[in-house]
Amino acid sequence: MSVAAIRIGAPATLDSLHLDHLPPCGDPGPGEIRVRLRASSLNFHDFAVVTGMLPAAAGRIPMSDGAGEVVAVGEGVSAYAAGDLVVSTFFTNWDDGTPPATAFTTVPGDGIDGYAREEIVAPANWFTRVPKGYSAAEAATLTCAGLTAWRALFVDGAVKPGSTVLVQGSGGVSIFALQFAKAAGARVIATSSSDAKLERLRALGADETINYKAEAAWGLKALELTGGHGVDCVVEIGGAGTLDQSMMATRVGGHVALIGVLAGFAGPVQTALLMAKNLRVQGLTVGSRAMQLEMIAGVEANGIRPVIDSHFPLADLAGAFRHQASNTHFGKIVVDM
Ligand SMILES: NC(=O)c1ccc[n+]([C@@H]2O[C@H](COP(=O)([O-])OP(=O)(O)OC[C@H]3O[C@@H](n4cnc5c(N)ncnc54)[C@H](OP(=O)(O)O)[C@@H]3O)[C@@H](O)[C@H]2O)c1
Repeated sequence: MSVAAIRIGAPATLDSLHLDHLPPCGDPGPGEIRVRLRASSLNFHDFAVVTGMLPAAAGRIPMSDGAGEVVAVGEGVSAYAAGDLVVSTFFTNWDDGTPPATAFTTVPGDGIDGYAREEIVAPANWFTRVPKGYSAAEAATLTCAGLTAWRALFVDGAVKPGSTVLVQGSGGVSIFALQFAKAAGARVIATSSSDAKLERLRALGADETINYKAEAAWGLKALELTGGHGVDCVVEIGGAGTLDQSMMATRVGGHVALIGVLAGFAGPVQTALLMAKNLRVQGLTVGSRAMQLEMIAGVEANGIRPVIDSHFPLADLAGAFRHQASNTHFGKIVVDM
């Protein structure tokens, strides 16, 4: 029986994404597992790959996130057994410590084929266990968005009970950051372009909300909401176009986790403000396998479940991306295999 997969066309556009049928996977070799993939989830990074914003080889199978059940294990694999649910790691060559300089060359769905397919044979350390009680769809939201939020707050940041965190918008990374920050006892200021979404962010625990479209100086507004003190940590998903407001919102000595590019890949930055506030602006790329295991323990200990906006079948991956591009989503969009 063949294995359904989606491939990127040339040039890469949503219209050139197409279904392919791969030969069945063979038996896993030493150190490998065979996984019946059940779900993936959309990230902006995947959107950038399938629309040609990020260069990828023609015919590449997209999607960095994948979860499903182990159907066979190769020689020497003791961590998993048939039937176990597993979830992919974003990097295939970063177990712990600092990322290797070549990390992106082997990211599934980018440097190598990804998880928009029904089955894969891969090294066992490309996966981890999933949080107890999670479905494959829930687990598939964690690889990129979940881990990025976790690292921003607790690995690079030092968020603790009583900290104040600012999260931007209602996409995958930001909603995880809101949930994780609340679970850690932090106060959260959330922004969105939509008042209806702000209401949903409040229902998820946001203490204060700001409409960043209505309030151009939202960083100043956030500063006011902290009595002029500033927030301890910003989960910065806009990039060049939002960084100045983020720095405005941050307390002296605070931390800006520089994650995204939704408001520009490059641009002028108020370096004097960065200096005057003694800020730490730290770039990050998702996280290591070790960080993923810590996140899973944190998710389990706090009973956190991902916010899933919608499900699409694998064959309609383009439809899922069109939904993401419409900006009407709230949280994660899942693709089911
Ligand atoms: N560095 C890393 O390791 C890493 C990892 C994951 C993601 N990222 C980056 O983080 C960003 C978010 O990724 P994602 O997967 O979470 O995207 P997503 O789920 O598609 O989220 C998009 C949401 O971001 C909000 N947004 C868009 N422009 C904004 C702006 N100018 N200011 C504030 N919010 C804005 C919107 O929320 P509202 O509709 O509520 O306004 C939008 O719905 C992307 O740039 C992605 O490349 C980086």
